[in-house]
Formats: sequence, structure tokens, C-alpha cells
Amino acid sequence: MNGGKPFRLGVLGSGKGSNFVALADAIAAGTLPAQVALVISDVADAGILQHARSRGIAAEFLPPGKFRTKLDEDAEPAYVRRLQEAQVDLVVLAGFMRVLKSDFLRAFPQRIINIHPSLLPAFPGLEAWKQALDYGVKFTGCTVHFVDDGVDSGPILGQEVVPVLPGDTAATLHARIQQAEHRLYPATVAALACGRVQVAGRQVVCR
Ligand code: GRF
Repeated sequence: MNGGKPFRLGVLGSGKGSNFVALADAIAAGTLPAQVALVISDVADAGILQHARSRGIAAEFLPPGKFRTKLDEDAEPAYVRRLQEAQVDLVVLAGFMRVLKSDFLRAFPQRIINIHPSLLPAFPGLEAWKQALDYGVKFTGCTVHFVDDGVDSGPILGQEVVPVLPGDTAATLHARIQQAEHRLYPATVAALACGRVQVAGRQVVCR
């Protein structure tokens, strides 16, 4: 809560939306004191939009423009405007496959978070579970971090460790990491919603 007002989330995703579902389920269960004000996707038929609509949550496809890995100069202000109009307190990236540039970051200072499927700073970037498997690590996991202007490089809010088991494939390891994500993301957003997070540079304490 936010001085008595609900803590409003704007969720951005490009894919199937299992982390959005975990957040929505935690809100429904009463363990996450927040509400999803808006879901936006850069993919018209993304599962995340369907999950949101089936829960009666506002969900919009906003065209990303001409680039493959970022929003173009028309799309970025449109995303920012919609999130501001929805009066979101926190922008939650849940499988959003585009890098956010500085104007977007400046619009929501220290109010954009992401979940990444590895124990950062190991294995930033794409298919982090496959990178971990190929490297041969025995433990990997997931990380929730603030978004800065680097790739998966912002201050870390929380992590959960996941073992790599003999016989794991990329698919089985990713599935196990996602189970951890579905615990870590709602718990971390709840800490932010309740004002239980203190930030001093890269040092973040979630109580
Ligand atoms: C998650 O594995 C997350 O770590 C990564 O993108 C994936 C999104 O999955 N950033 P989903 O759409 O929430 O199921």
C-alpha cells in the first residue's frame, strides 16, 4: 500500500505470461498488496495479454516500431504515456524482450524491475538457462533487479538458487527456474509495495 492507496503495477511482457499469472494469483490470494493497472505487450497475440483479459485486467498491444530489440522513437513515448496515464507506481518487466532506453528509465526512476533467469551477474542476456547448462554450473537460479541502462545489470533486489540436476535439458532446467521465478517475483514486488526495500547505490535490502 501507498499511503492507503493501492500500489499500482504496470506489467510489460512479450511472451506466455507465466510470471504475470504468478503476480495476479498472489494479488488474488492476498499475499501481494497491489493491483495490476495495465498490461502492455509488444506482441499482438502474446499469452500475457490473453491471461490479463481473462482476469478482466486492462491489456493493450502497443506496436514497438521498426527495431527488433528496442522500442523506436515513436513507440517509447507511447509506452511511457500509457503507463503514466494508468498512474503506475512500479513498472514490472515480465518477459519483455526489448531494452528500455534512457527516456523511459528517466520517466520511472528506480521504479522499473525485471526478472532474469540466472543468478546475475552470471549469464546475462538471452536464454540464460541454456548458457548455465552449457557452462556446466551446478547451481543457477533467478534474479529480480532494478533496470538500468545496461543489460541485466541493475542493483539486485532478490535471488533464488535452483540446482542443475544430472540429465537436465534446457527445457527441464528452464521449467525449474520458472517455478522459482513464480515465488520470487511476487515476494519481491510485495516488499516494494509494502515499503520494505531500502536502496543505497548497488546495495539493496529487502526486509
Ligand atoms: C522468464 O523466464 C523471465 O526470467 C525472462 O522471461 C521469461 C518470461 O516468462 N525475463 P513468462 O512470459 O513470464 O512465462
